Order: sequence, then structure tokens, then C-alpha cells
Amino acid sequence: KSNAMWGGRFAAGPDAIMEAINASIGYDKRLAFQDITGSRAHAAMLAAQGIISDTDAQTIREGLLTVLSEIESGNFEFSTALEDIHMNVEARLKEIVGEPAGRLHTARSRNDQVATDFKLWTRDQMDAVVMGLEALINALLDQAEAGADWVMPGFTHLQTAQPVTWGHHMMAYVEMLGRDMSRFKDARARMNENPLGSAALAGTGFPIDRHMTAEALGFDRPTANSLDAVADRDFALEFLSCASITAMHLSRFAEELVIWSSAQFRFVTLSDRFSTGSSIMPQKKNPDAAELIRAKVGRIMGAMVALFTVMKGLPLAYSKDMQEDKEQVFDAADNLMLAVAAMTGMVSDMTANVDSLRAAAASGFSTATDLADWLVREAGLPFRDAHHVTGALVALAESKGCDLPDLSLDEMKSAHESITDGVYTVLTVENSVASRTSYGGTAPTQVRAQIARWREVLK
Ligand code: ARG
Repeated sequence: KSNAMWGGRFAAGPDAIMEAINASIGYDKRLAFQDITGSRAHAAMLAAQGIISDTDAQTIREGLLTVLSEIESGNFEFSTALEDIHMNVEARLKEIVGEPAGRLHTARSRNDQVATDFKLWTRDQMDAVVMGLEALINALLDQAEAGADWVMPGFTHLQTAQPVTWGHHMMAYVEMLGRDMSRFKDARARMNENPLGSAALAGTGFPIDRHMTAEALGFDRPTANSLDAVADRDFALEFLSCASITAMHLSRFAEELVIWSSAQFRFVTLSDRFSTGSSIMPQKKNPDAAELIRAKVGRIMGAMVALFTVMKGLPLAYSKDMQEDKEQVFDAADNLMLAVAAMTGMVSDMTANVDSLRAAAASGFSTATDLADWLVREAGLPFRDAHHVTGALVALAESKGCDLPDLSLDEMKSAHESITDGVYTVLTVENSVASRTSYGGTAPTQVRAQIARWREVLK
């Protein structure tokens, strides 16, 4: 038997393999709500424009709600023969309301329909991600506030560089995730144009009102070129790009948590709720959530590359290749949401080991820069000379197996005669961080100002 929707010119039905490669219902059923919302708006518009009767529109709109409730309650039988969500919904509508169902597809094609559905879905996801990121940022702000003046080592090359504050480190991620949030918002604003009414590719001769459906569906305006509207998947690519950058940020933080929670670092203790044990080694508490978050960027970025590769080289307008867009976006969205939620839980539950952080901050000659700065400020040395003198003192301390503050004043003077015992005050990690008051610096005063600014932004 040939297809009920397009079988007019066909004598035979598709081969089973054809059906299998063609069908998208297995995953695009996730667009059911958006599909029905779009169709209801389309039917209302067709009636308002006198293209179908008010009675038919009414019947269609009510019938679609019945279909939706069947789907939502799990009483809907999806059919692979009907390919996708659009035809599954329409076929069921026909069973429920009969003849008027056949009028719904007037002045419309599955091409503008799927673009509309998918945009509505992606738009909702962007909003959901933004909300998730906001929760994560709030968890980070709480950590930052608690530890605005806890001192920890700051690293470059993962080598001790200068002392920073725990709050400062948390706030670094707030900045990253804040940019992520704004990227999603930008993308949402750019994509919020209505493709519905572009029909197959060329628009339609029916006197439709695309502004009306745009408004009904919460779009800012109709898309301005029907060819572009049905061929465009920029919104999906932007979603995946924003998702990839966010996932990359989460991955970097996850990596730090993996390192920090190791017995060698002991910077943080992750909660039992976000750790797992080992089936053989009884002492183990593994940071699995952090590791999986670290890994998620692989599949999310993979989805982005996959869709870019699908889209490159496609001639205008719609090609069936584009059906491969949805699984990538669905998978990326699901995993990003999961990663954000898991990170939020981990951050809220984790305990900073303040003493280990401080001890680590004080080792590795972390205040060497403070000593060099002191020589510039108090002894008038050019910074390059101060750097050299300090380097000699670091070498001396290293050879003695002690830290900079453990050197005697005589030993200090052996490197430069103008050093006085005033130098010792700048060698403590507390004074080091407190001195870094430049805007955006690690001083607790600066960190608290940034926390306050973010609290205000998120209010
Ligand atoms: N299932 C299709 C997709 O996801 C819907 C659009 C089909 N359009 C077409 N002309 N075959 O892209």
C-alpha cells in the first residue's frame, strides 16, 4: 500500500529498509508539543484569514488537544510508516475529527513545520539552560562568599604561581558561566523569527498572515526569506556552539575538582552524594560526577561538529539530510542539562579544606613576586633586578629546604644589602592576597565587590 500522505503518485509502498532509514519518529516525537502548538496557531490563522472555515478550525484545534493528551498520557501509538511526528499527529487527527483534518496542511509544508517545531523546542532549551546556569552561578556565589578570604595557591602551568583566594577562584567560573548565559540569550534573540508560512520553500499563494502565527508562537517576527527559513539550522548550530563552550567550561572546573579532591591535594572534600566507591578498594571515594562532567564536552562538541558537517555543502532549500539535526541537539541538550545540574549539586555540597588550601598556598615560594615587588617599592630597584635578587633568594631557600619567610635577615641581605625586616610582612600569603586590590584582583575586598555585583545582576 502506498503512503496516505503522499502516495498519490506512487504505486508501491516503501521497502522496509527505506522506511527504516527515512523514519524520524523514534526521536522527533519529542517535538509533539511544539508540533501541536504550531498546528493550532496555523489553523487559527487559516480561519482568521478566511482560508478555512471557523468550524473546521475549531474542530482541528480541539482535535489536536485530544491528540496531545493522548501523547502526554502515553496512549498514543507512534507509527514508523508515518515517518515523523508531523504525519503521526495529522494521521491521528484525521482518525479523530475526520475530513477537516485534511485542511490543516493548507499553505504549509513539513519543511516550514519542522523548522518551526524545532525552533520552538530549541528556544525552550535555551531558556532551560539559562535557568540551570543561574542556579550553578548561585551555588558558586555561595562558595565564593563563604571563602572570600580563604587563601589557596593560584597556578599557572599547574605550578604554584601566587596566592589567590578561594572566592576569587570560584568567581572566575562565575564569569565564564555568566558569559555562557549571555551567549544563550544572544542566540535566542537572534533565532526568534517565525519560519511558519514559508511553506515548502517559495512561500504560498494563500493569503496567510505570518505575523499572526509569529505572535501566537512567541516569535518576534516572521522570517524574511522563505528559502532561508526552511534551509536554516543556524539556531541549532548556535545552540550546540554555546553548549560546547559551556561544556568546555564545566570540563575545566570538573578537572580541577578531580585534582583537588585527590589525597595528594586535599583541597576539597566532595560529598558522599556526588561520589562513588570502589568495588575492590575500600578506601576509595571517587569523583565520578566530576569525571563524567569532564567527559560530556566530548559528545556535546561532537554533536556540534556532526551538525556542521551535515549542513556544509547542502544546496538550498530543504534536504532530508537536515533530519539528522535533531538527535544531535537532543543529546547535547540532555547531557548539558545533566552536567549543569550535577555540577550545581557538587558545588553546593563540597567542602573546602581551608587548612590544606592555606598550607599549599604558603609552599612553593608563592610570595616570591611579593618580595620582588617589595624591592621595587621599598628599595627602588628596577623590576628586572628585583626579579633577579628574588630568584637568588628562592634558590637559597630551596637549597636549604625552607620557605622564603624562613630565611634570616642576614641571608636576605646577602642577596641585596637594602633588604630590611619590613620585607617579612609581604611574605605572608594573607598579606599577599590582601595587597592585590587592583580591579578584578584577588584581594578579598575586590572579590566581595564582584560577588555583590553578581548578586545584583541575578536579582
Ligand atoms: N522529518 C522531517 C525532518 O525532520 C520533516 C521534514 C520533511 N520534509 C520533507 N520534505 N520530507 O526534517
